[in-house]
Amino acid sequence: MAQTVCLIPGDGIGPEVAQSTRDIIEASGVNIDWIELPAGAGVVDEYGDIMPQSTLDAIRENKIALKGPITTPIGKGFKSANVRLRKALDLYAAVRPVRSMPGIKTRYEDVDLVIIRENTEGLYSGIENEITDGVVASMKVATRKASERIARFAFNYARSRQRDKVTVFHKANIMKMSDGLFIDCASRMHEEIFPELPYQELIIDNGCMQMVTDPNQFDTLLLENLYGDVLSDLCAGLVGGLGVVPGANIGDECAVFEAVHGSAPDIAGQDKANPLALIMSGVMMLNHLGETESAKKIKVAYDSVLEARNPEEITADIGGQGGTKAFTEAVIRQM
Ligand code: NAI
Repeated sequence: MAQTVCLIPGDGIGPEVAQSTRDIIEASGVNIDWIELPAGAGVVDEYGDIMPQSTLDAIRENKIALKGPITTPIGKGFKSANVRLRKALDLYAAVRPVRSMPGIKTRYEDVDLVIIRENTEGLYSGIENEITDGVVASMKVATRKASERIARFAFNYARSRQRDKVTVFHKANIMKMSDGLFIDCASRMHEEIFPELPYQELIIDNGCMQMVTDPNQFDTLLLENLYGDVLSDLCAGLVGGLGVVPGANIGDECAVFEAVHGSAPDIAGQDKANPLALIMSGVMMLNHLGETESAKKIKVAYDSVLEARNPEEITADIGGQGGTKAFTEAVIRQM
């Protein structure tokens, strides 16, 4: 039976990497009914909204989506469509595996991290006020409910995947109440769910320094929303950049798979984007759907294209001279 998957191409490089991912998933032989849905800065004129209600409804109904990046204006304009999507569908856990890739040489070898980011609150609650001229306040919201469920998710994830350790990065020395609540929930869930697993709490500034000097000491990272966002890009830099880090936004009802990177307007429409991060997100999606054979087939194919390091077949961000299309074709040929 065909699986129905909602596909949001998004903005900037989104349509290019979404097409590549769709072509590769189709070539893997899995039977998918795609429903293409509008969202992003590019659809506002037509739909009057960056995240049309009909798009949210379709994902809610079909439960699974693969999403390209969406542009969010800086300092003004409409609120982030991504934040709205995650909140509307209660996609509370962002899961971002960060691994060393074959054929991509970086400062470190054998990096194998999973970032688990709380996806619905913190400073992303978007509660900002101008108290008086020249004074603004942004509210960081932490609830016991959300802090507990992300911690429960992280320890269950660590247990089911036989991970080695969970580390929480926090700033509870300064944000004693909000981050204090977050680590309190994390340590209680550790005790309740997986007390045998090594568990560590680190102040985030020290944690970042340790991450860039010795990433192999870490395994699974549990963070509130903003820290998880920042650390995802930092960790991407350890393994070859934003072109190679996938992600999933998971809720109890729905899951939306998307790369960590944004819409990369600097390279949009030029066949320069590395589609791998979204392809890898697609592989996470296939595994989530139980389509493990197709998932494996795609992974084996892109790993061997990377290993071969034919400059014509890999994109510039990872040292090649090829384009989005050349990489896509190479992966399909390999399958
Ligand atoms: P970005 O991730 O789009 O780009 C940062 C740098 O990485 C750029 O130099 C870009 O060319 C490069 N890059 C990113 N993805 C790449 C890929 N697949 N292949 C090769 N190079 C790649 O971050 P930036 O520039 O800060 O944000 C651009 C827009 O994207 C903003 O409007 C931002 O709000 C949005 N954004 C959306 C996200 C989403 O939809 N989930 C996530 C992050 C940012």
